[in-house]
This record gives sequence, structure tokens and C-alpha cells, in this order.
Amino acid sequence: MSKKKIVVLTGAGVSAESGIKTFRDHGGLWDQYDPYDVASIDGWYRDRKLVLDFYNVRRKQLQEVQPNAAHLAIAGLEQDYDVAVITQNVDNLHERAGSTRVLHLHGEMTKVRPENSFNDQDGFSEKEVFDIGYGEIHLGDKAPNGSQLRPHIVFFGEAVPSIGKAIDLVMEANIILIVGTSLNVYPAAGLYRYAGAGVPIYIIDPQDVPVSDSRVHHIKEVATKGMETFMNILKNK
Ligand code: APR
Repeated sequence: MSKKKIVVLTGAGVSAESGIKTFRDHGGLWDQYDPYDVASIDGWYRDRKLVLDFYNVRRKQLQEVQPNAAHLAIAGLEQDYDVAVITQNVDNLHERAGSTRVLHLHGEMTKVRPENSFNDQDGFSEKEVFDIGYGEIHLGDKAPNGSQLRPHIVFFGEAVPSIGKAIDLVMEANIILIVGTSLNVYPAAGLYRYAGAGVPIYIIDPQDVPVSDSRVHHIKEVATKGMETFMNILKNK
């Protein structure tokens, strides 16, 4: 019999216990930086160096942190379920924890691409995206096509090329698990609504969640503890 399909939609909260700051919690990244300066396409054209430095610092930090028990538990689901992780996070902790199917809606911090590499569909050509690991890119670092290298991140004001694929995954899911997102940023925040009628939606978040949907079960705990609770729910299903 084929395995049940679980879609796991994650946000910054799943990486909080690894020591990576979230965005909108008290003391979060958006308390320190204006997102429109460091994470928007207008900000990029206004001050490329500020944006490059912002991601250089975060990329370097990524090298010093580890996946936490929540990432590992999500990866462990693959033993008994057909799992697709759809993450808003640009870190690589799901992959380092062992998840084998990870869709990065907002890009990946370890990857870069030329600022001018357009194709009609995505706004950039996948062929020109490459991995720099935890390295840095600076003003004047050019891609083979001669244009400035930029982070392979979906900036505010840019399209989310993989949203169609994400919606298809959610529509096929038998179970939806949402971990550590304030559900503030669309289109990611609206993804769960595409789940089929009667499909259970579990949300792990220590704070209240802005969702009133009869399919939702809120596990009001941090990600590592909440994943233990979720695994017990699955065992008793
Ligand atoms: N475990 C689980 N959830 C947690 C934890 C934790 N230890 N700590 C915080 N959270 C929850 C918060 O309660 C909040 O609901 O994680 C969520 C973090 O929300 P945001 O900081 O808004 O992060 P996220 O939802 O991922 O932001 C979405 O916004 O700025 C853009 O592109 C950026 O991908 C990001 C998007």
C-alpha cells in the first residue's frame, strides 16, 4: 500500500531552537533591520552592498548552527510517510537533518545567481544558480554572464516561482503539518487552504495562530516539543 502523504510547511520558528533568529518575534531580525532595506528588490537596487553584507553575515552564522530535534523528527517522518517539506526558510537545516524533498519557497541562502539572468517564467534561469556554501559575495563579484552576483533569495516584491508546485503538493496531501510560521507572508501563508476537505492540519507554534479553520489542530508548543506531541498523535491515529 502506498504511504500517506504529509506536507510539512515550515517557517523561521522551526530553526529558532537551532539558534537562528526568527523575523517577527521580539528581538527578531526585523527588529534589527528594515526588511525593505535588506530583503526587497527595491532595497537591492538602492544599496546592493547592504543586502550582500546582510546575507554574508547570515550565511556565515549558518555554518555555526546545527539542525535541531524538530528538523530531525521531520526528516524521520520519511520512514513511514511520503513527505514533502515546503519551507519559507532559506537555511539548509532541513537538508542537513536528512529531509530528502525540500522546496524552498523563498530561495536558499547558500546559493547565488547573476542579477540579470532572466527567463520568461521564473525571472531567472535555474542553470545560472550555483552553490557557494557558507562563502561571501561582494560588490564587483560577477557571474559568468558578466552581471553582479546576488543572493538566490526571493526578495519582497519578487514572484515566488515554486508556488504552483507547492499548491499541487498541498492539494495531494493526506495530512498537513505547519511548524513555526506566523502565516504573515503570502502566498506561502495561504498554502494550507488548498488542503482537501477533511484533511487534518496540525500547527505547531508556542504563540496563538491567526487561523480559524475547522480542520486545524493547534499544538501550542515549541517545535522540538510539538514534534514529539505530533508523533504521538500519528501513532494513535
Ligand atoms: N518553535 C516553534 N515556533 C516558534 C518558535 C519555536 N521555538 N519560536 C518562535 N516560533 C514561531 C513564532 O510564534 C511565529 O509564529 O515562529 C513564527 C515565526 O514567524 P516569523 O518570524 O514571521 O517567520 P516566518 O513566518 O517564517 O516569516 C515568513 O517572512 O520575512 C519574510 O521571507 C521571510 O520567510 C520569511 C517570511
